[in-house]
Amino acid sequence: MPSLDDVTRPPGRPHRILYGGDWNPEQWPEETWAEDVRLMRRAGVGTVTLGVFSWSRLEPAPGAREFGWLDRLMDLTHDHGIGVVLATPTSSPPPWMGRLHPETLPRDEDGRTEWWGSRQHFSHSSEVYRRHAAAITEDLAARYAGHPALTMWHINNEYCTHDWGDEAARTFRRWLRERHGTLDALNTAWGTDFWGQRYGDWAEVLPPRRAHYLRNPAHVLDFRRYTSDLLLECYRAERDIVRRHTPHLPVTTNLMPFWSGQDGWAWAAEEDVVSVDVYPDPRDPHGGQYNAMIGDLTRSEAGGRPWMVMEQAAGAVNWRGVNHPKPYGLNRLWALQSVAHGADAVCYFQWRQSRQGAEKFHSGMLGHAGERGRVFQETVRVGEDLARLGPRVAGSRVTADIAVLHDWNSWWAGDQEGALSRRVDHAELVRAWHRALFDAHLPASFAHPHHDLTGHRLVLVPHLYLLDDTAIENLTAYVRGGGTLVCGFLTGVADQDDRVRPGGVDARLRALLGIDLLHEWWPLDEGEHVDCGTFRGTLWSEELAPADGAETLAAYRGGDLDGLPAVLRNGRTRYLSTLPEPAALSELLAAAAREAGVRPVLDGLPARVEAVRRGELLFLLHHGRDPVTVPLPGRHRDLLTSAVVEGKLTLERYGVAVLEEHAADVPEEHP
Ligand code: GAL
Repeated sequence: MPSLDDVTRPPGRPHRILYGGDWNPEQWPEETWAEDVRLMRRAGVGTVTLGVFSWSRLEPAPGAREFGWLDRLMDLTHDHGIGVVLATPTSSPPPWMGRLHPETLPRDEDGRTEWWGSRQHFSHSSEVYRRHAAAITEDLAARYAGHPALTMWHINNEYCTHDWGDEAARTFRRWLRERHGTLDALNTAWGTDFWGQRYGDWAEVLPPRRAHYLRNPAHVLDFRRYTSDLLLECYRAERDIVRRHTPHLPVTTNLMPFWSGQDGWAWAAEEDVVSVDVYPDPRDPHGGQYNAMIGDLTRSEAGGRPWMVMEQAAGAVNWRGVNHPKPYGLNRLWALQSVAHGADAVCYFQWRQSRQGAEKFHSGMLGHAGERGRVFQETVRVGEDLARLGPRVAGSRVTADIAVLHDWNSWWAGDQEGALSRRVDHAELVRAWHRALFDAHLPASFAHPHHDLTGHRLVLVPHLYLLDDTAIENLTAYVRGGGTLVCGFLTGVADQDDRVRPGGVDARLRALLGIDLLHEWWPLDEGEHVDCGTFRGTLWSEELAPADGAETLAAYRGGDLDGLPAVLRNGRTRYLSTLPEPAALSELLAAAAREAGVRPVLDGLPARVEAVRRGELLFLLHHGRDPVTVPLPGRHRDLLTSAVVEGKLTLERYGVAVLEEHAADVPEEHP
């Protein structure tokens, strides 16, 4: 499959970063469309995503087809040199579907129906839904396959539905038979002799519906795996239809950022271009780190290939408790930051802010204030910057010596009703470790625990509660091969069926990490800390005995765990039995990185200035509001301003520089 840039670039034109967003012109009178495309051109928009929620327009009654309006839009965009990412409209079935076929509506775990009137009201398991979705996809693909505006397919939108209903019970059993084979094997995998849950007939097996008390965690784990897989079946079915019509065009579906409902590794493997929706909170002082993390994860899911920001907000969203706008410069900073982390497409939800419906207070690239508004002015500026960067950046890669391991199976398993502490949150732990690296100016990629890790000097495991045998053997081989490994607490506790390993932590892992015995887990309350000498631990602590030869780098002081290891080193591994406070975690990981021979991108970087190398270029991103001076070895040219800088560089509030090395004897280029 050719790259995103190759397939979406008009012939003979330079490389570019795709810029644009969801456009929902069916919400507007047609007179508005001409103004839309005029302003898109002004902003340098080269791509729009059409049709995401258009099913009830395309198929106003069962079997009817209304393509005229979309024909006109496809022609209009093409006439203005704008490419179309065409969405299948299947995330929001028309109201007639629910009325005529109530079995297409999903049921929640209490058995309540999720009705039409919002969106995503479809059961992934409903044959009727799937048949109608395939039919509209088929006709859409047949109609527009040859249209010159079409550049890419966008299947559905943020697959995120669940279903505990009868349709789901049927497909759940089918999925379980495929996974476990026999009912005996299922009973063994789920440990159903606990509380007398043994199943004697497949018909007794249900989705884990509301129950009197704690549900079987292995049952819930399989249901989460199944839900991700069933949604993936829906995606594949539509993808295969559009591929048949346009084998030369890439297909994507927009993943939610670091979301628990879809196994991102499995999904990304089925996409030609991996795309993601990312909405950092403008008020989050670490929003830039979050954006970096989503970029690193998405790039890693894409196997290092360029990826796509399918959605972000130009200003405020409308789904937080309080929704803050992005202050001047922040939208540009985060857009260019995604490019630094490997994105070849920077798109938004949505082009023009809606005047009606549930998202009328959600920002757009063209806000209610219109052409003269600040948000649109920034939209234009981002477009100019991306146009400057495209020819030099598109297609290039980002690499990292550090890999952070993450696996949805482990996330799902660890997040269970009977856990020792409801405060332990996989996503927050991964974020805390990524933030520790970000603060230490250490770039990272993500990897699945089965991936080949040998290309990384340092591997971090913030929290992999579930590790199967393959993963454990992979980690062991990585360390034996000379790799450096740092593991957080509650790693390697459970096997693939959420069965606790003998000894509480897998024996091979204990040998690797220098743990002789894990006596007890000691979770910590909100606000509770453990004194670890040079730092304070939070969230968790452990009563563990080190093996001979392992070195206690930091010990608990006082309390029940006095003298026991908080940080344990065994050869090239370290084990953290608590969560150090942010600065300490950052220092611990930086020390492990130094030992592994990993250096920050630049020395002497001020706090809040991020440096990322993409291909030959060095991106400097300032996440603070006060101007800052960055020491810089050698002579560089900033692609955004064409200025040549030597020795140091000043970045203004939310400033960005994209630097190439500039030899002293090369005459300065004038823009
Ligand atoms: C996304 C969704 C968009 C829009 C956006 C608002 O989750 O795909 O359609 O709702 O959120 O932030």
